[in-house]
Amino acid sequence: MMSKVLILPGDGIGPEIVAEAVRVLDAVNQKLDLGIETEQGLVGGIAIDAEGSPLPESTMEKARRADAILLGAVGGPKWESLPMVQRPEKGLLGLRSQLELFSNLRPAILYPQLADASSLKPEIVAGLDLMIIRELTGGIYFGQPRGVRQLEDGQRQGYNTYVYSESEIERIARSAFDTAMRRDKRLCSVDKANVLEVTELWREVVERVSADYPEVELSHMYVDNAAMQLVRNPRQFDVMVTGNMFGDILSDCAAMLTGSIGMLPSASLNAKGQGMYEPIHGSAPDIAGKGIANPLATILSVSMMLRYSLNQPEAAQLIDQAVGRVLDQGLRTADIMSEGAQQVSTQQMGDAVLQALD
Ligand code: NAI
Ligand code: MG
Repeated sequence: MMSKVLILPGDGIGPEIVAEAVRVLDAVNQKLDLGIETEQGLVGGIAIDAEGSPLPESTMEKARRADAILLGAVGGPKWESLPMVQRPEKGLLGLRSQLELFSNLRPAILYPQLADASSLKPEIVAGLDLMIIRELTGGIYFGQPRGVRQLEDGQRQGYNTYVYSESEIERIARSAFDTAMRRDKRLCSVDKANVLEVTELWREVVERVSADYPEVELSHMYVDNAAMQLVRNPRQFDVMVTGNMFGDILSDCAAMLTGSIGMLPSASLNAKGQGMYEPIHGSAPDIAGKGIANPLATILSVSMMLRYSLNQPEAAQLIDQAVGRVLDQGLRTADIMSEGAQQVSTQQMGDAVLQALD
């Protein structure tokens, strides 16, 4: 079975970290004979420079025929003076909306070897491994009407609309239950059903979908409580599912429990299982070109890709174990460096993961 992966290195440290991740992908592809074919494309600032658009049609065409996309990061000071609609970030948003990548998977994993990187006590967070699933293409970020209007009393009023249709809730709920089935079979749905009618409907639909997943233990939590619980006792959660805005906030909060954005991957999936995989961090212009960026978030994005779009869980596990092994060996890029560890470059970290695969 052949599968196609589109590689979009993007800007800043993107090309450096993606190069290491592609080496790892190539290695497991060969080792396990996965039949993966890769091709490269342009997105972001580099695409603006070459083709005048952050998301050229040629890239979109490649994206449509790919089973999965691996993205580095986009953006940087060079393009910051462009009007909003022409910015590198528009390339990402275009991919998300045109491919209907509505399900955003944001794991927060704290490797025991890095437990002191968290601002929380090691005994609360060491071994943390949770997955937040954020609805990505609906909710208040996209609801109409929206804008700033003039009121009769002379002042202006800003407004947005928080909407979710039953079908939008149902598909994100299914994505969350499917994910829970691959993990610990525990799902917590986060809403504000005591105040917002839209999330009252959310809760009702999630309950309905749960009938199709009798093995998954479902719970519900109000978002304010969920925020508290995340910092009080984050290991009580396995999979959480929530809407676009709550998910934006909670997933960043959970990410920081781990103390390192250089370690965290993400996935954005559509109904066909097609997905875009990327580290949660940006293009880090401050360290671009220095060869010191941490490639592990991107390497772990490859692992997610194998698991969630290419149906190769053994290959994914191989990569996860290799990453664990290099951390055990005490190898650290600058961002996760600690006393007694050995500091390595981007490429040396890639080399170490490749070696640990064997
Ligand atoms: P950033 O995530 O790029 O950097 C924040 C800090 O973390 C910087 O000090 C950076 O050096 C460090 N850092 C990030 N990734 C790292 C890695 N792999 N290894 C070591 N250190 C790392 O966020 P920032 O500075 O706010 O944004 C920079 C540019 O990236 C902007 O143009 C922004 O729009 C863009 N951006 C793009 C995203 C994407 O492509 N998905 C997401 C977030 C920001
Ligand atoms: Mg955010």
